[in-house]
Amino acid sequence: MVDRALLGFIGNTRKYIYQAVGFKCLNLIANIVFSYNFASILIYFLKGIFIVKFEISIFMIVVSLAVRQYCIRKVSMKNSLVVYEVKQNLRQEVYEKVLSMGTLFQEEMTTQEIVHLGVEGVEQLENYYGSYLTQFYYSFASAIILVVVIYPLNMWVALALLGASPLIPGFLYVILVMVKNVQRKYWSKYADVGNLFLDSLQGLTTLKVFKADEDRGTELDEMSEGFRKQTMKLLSMQLNTIMIIDWFAYGGSVLAILVALIQFKVGNIYSYELVVILLLIAEFFVPMRTLTGMFHVAMTGVTAGEKMLDFLYSDELVKRGNEKYPINAKIELKNMDFSYPDGECALKGVNMEFAPGEMVAIIGESGSGKSTLASVIAGEYRQPSGSIFIDNKDILEIDAYELNKNIIRITHDGHVFQGSVRENLLIGNFKATDDELISILEKVRLWDLFEQMDGLDTKILSQGKNISGGQSQRLSLARALIYDAEVYIFDEATSNIDVESEQIITDIIKSISKKKTVIYISHSLKSVENIQKIYVLEKGLLIESGNHCELMELGGKYRFLYDKQDELERFRQSSKEGEKYEKK
Ligand SMILES: Nc1ncnc2c1ncn2[C@@H]1O[C@H](COP(=O)(O)OP(=O)(O)O)[C@@H](O)[C@H]1O
Ligand SMILES: [Mg+2]
Repeated sequence: MVDRALLGFIGNTRKYIYQAVGFKCLNLIANIVFSYNFASILIYFLKGIFIVKFEISIFMIVVSLAVRQYCIRKVSMKNSLVVYEVKQNLRQEVYEKVLSMGTLFQEEMTTQEIVHLGVEGVEQLENYYGSYLTQFYYSFASAIILVVVIYPLNMWVALALLGASPLIPGFLYVILVMVKNVQRKYWSKYADVGNLFLDSLQGLTTLKVFKADEDRGTELDEMSEGFRKQTMKLLSMQLNTIMIIDWFAYGGSVLAILVALIQFKVGNIYSYELVVILLLIAEFFVPMRTLTGMFHVAMTGVTAGEKMLDFLYSDELVKRGNEKYPINAKIELKNMDFSYPDGECALKGVNMEFAPGEMVAIIGESGSGKSTLASVIAGEYRQPSGSIFIDNKDILEIDAYELNKNIIRITHDGHVFQGSVRENLLIGNFKATDDELISILEKVRLWDLFEQMDGLDTKILSQGKNISGGQSQRLSLARALIYDAEVYIFDEATSNIDVESEQIITDIIKSISKKKTVIYISHSLKSVENIQKIYVLEKGLLIESGNHCELMELGGKYRFLYDKQDELERFRQSSKEGEKYEKK
């Protein structure tokens, strides 16, 4: 009933839990003192006998009430300290795990799932750490204290309570095993609804454009309904168990009261003792009942916690060495296979070579595996061992940071962050000076634009919404230039942008290729004509390689694609001329 692995996150806050249990016990002792003195006053009114002096009784009652108030405050204070620290610990761990996995974390979970886990999952555990744990330990402590206090008053009543007390935790344990499944389903439905909702929210504009928002809405409705049903199932289970536990509690109390009455009848206890015993019996099952009330919410948290632990303790996806990335190194792919976790085989037996400072093109139709190849080389997906070599050294021997530092992949949708131009560029190298930043911006021909605005302090909106696609692409290229890697992989980096930006970026790529290794991926064959080494991919296989002339002569896939694009281009030209002619 107490999850060992989750206890691991308590760390330093264990002492607060013990202190909270301590204050709860003190509260109980104050309650016991109250019961004795209250019984004394009651007996005075019933029989006119003073067991304890009246003033003392009143004084003790007032003191015990004050102590109780104080304890209750202390308990909630200690509990909130636990929650505060544990939540931070958990979030820190999730965050560090994501960092340690680098870009590979996507293989384990989607970003949304991780956000969900780190925010919702941690919140769900609040009850577990904040009240359940304390109550759990206290339930046992209180049972022991009460039995010890009642025993001198009457042994048989104490034994009756002792006999009845394991029933509730025992029953809870049985329930725990039974509801595990319901709880898991509840949590996974919860996560599903959250994921779909976030995805829909992010794509709301698209959904509106395609008038698909209503369908999405229906889908969300259905999912929420499923979640509601699962919640109801859990709640009704919860209510049912509380009812059964109540039966146990009342049954236990009735039994103990009966024993007490019999003992009174046979003259083993006096009326004063009887009243004290009755008051204490009423107290006996309260902690267990409170625990039951918290039980289900806490256990839902535990289910979320287990999911979190699975993620935190999942094996490292790739074991890497700690070697440095060699300068001016040759990259070789030897018979490289790559499959996505869902089984899709995206690359088969690929052999390629990228000499230092060489510019190599990779072309192929959409879906042929170009981006996969680029991502695998850049370490964004699991790199297979014995297939990628940097100067004859397996890439897995190279330290993860070193790898990231030296191989960079630039796509057509490089992320531009909300913030200033300077902040966006400093991500590439936080040590760069303003002069360096300006000179890079001049290279990508953005400085003229930003100079007229606020210079390096020009504000950029999230995803570069206040600049054009081409400008935003040039800004992310500028960031990559500042980064100063050894190997640049341009994955369709000039797709979907205006002609002017395309020209600027192509020129820059050419100038980078004079100093660095460049892998240039494109579906446009016109743009690779002058590159001396061209690899042609088809369905994950390397089918042709050579320069433009050789490949044209070969008359294979390259030739086929080239002719097709050429024809398309000529068609475009002629239709443009046709338009001009018509206008005349
Ligand atoms: N994250 C992924 N999970 C599973 N399969 C993928 C993933 N990304 C791409 N694929 C599959 O791998 C193949 C190659 O895709 P990709 O490398 O993106 O092609 P290209 O960049 O040449 O258009 C395709 O069949 C695609 O469906
Ligand atoms: Mg691609």
